Amino acid sequence: MGEMDDLCVTDCTRCPALVESRSQIVNGTGPEDADVLFVGEGPGAREDEGGEPFVGRSGSVLDEQLRTVGLDRDTVRITNCVRCRPPENRDPTKAELENCRGYLVREIDLLDPDVIVTLGKVPTEHLLERDVAVTKEAGSVEDVRIGDTPRRLLICVHPAATLYDRSQEETFQNAIQRAAELADVDGSEGGQTRLDGF
Ligand code: URA
Repeated sequence: MGEMDDLCVTDCTRCPALVESRSQIVNGTGPEDADVLFVGEGPGAREDEGGEPFVGRSGSVLDEQLRTVGLDRDTVRITNCVRCRPPENRDPTKAELENCRGYLVREIDLLDPDVIVTLGKVPTEHLLERDVAVTKEAGSVEDVRIGDTPRRLLICVHPAATLYDRSQEETFQNAIQRAAELADVDGSEGGQTRLDGF
């Protein structure tokens, strides 16, 4: 059992509407010592069904771009701001985001990533605690205190944005490329694929 098992949320009932709409709680996935943490908004239908973040169409877009920049999906950690699927895929409310914040902060603290990549407006505004025009600010890196610790955060558009608006493709690709560079810069011994205990 790794430390991350501690934050595998299994029985939360803080958000009545989400308890109603979810079929299961979708926890983060990926190595406990990953250098990069991707944070999405919340599970969609496919994630709710599969029990893993970013396994639907957005996930395919993300996986493909990760491969392109040499960051395999299996080497990064992927999680969401809320762990339960909102009804009709609406955005999570402020209250729901706050209810789930503790789980996210704990995951960040245990992982201690070199860089947190926020995918889209909801996670970016949630973690930076300000309004953000993600398309404009994608690719920029900010230092932000999360919990008690200063963190490096890279703003990225949501992978789904590239499906609706082709012009966002390059923005997305450039930001993911930047994530790979930031993960390398701090170059922990052995790099991305090292797994403690193996
Ligand atoms: N979109 C998200 O923000 N998160 C997922 O897990 C899937 C799609």
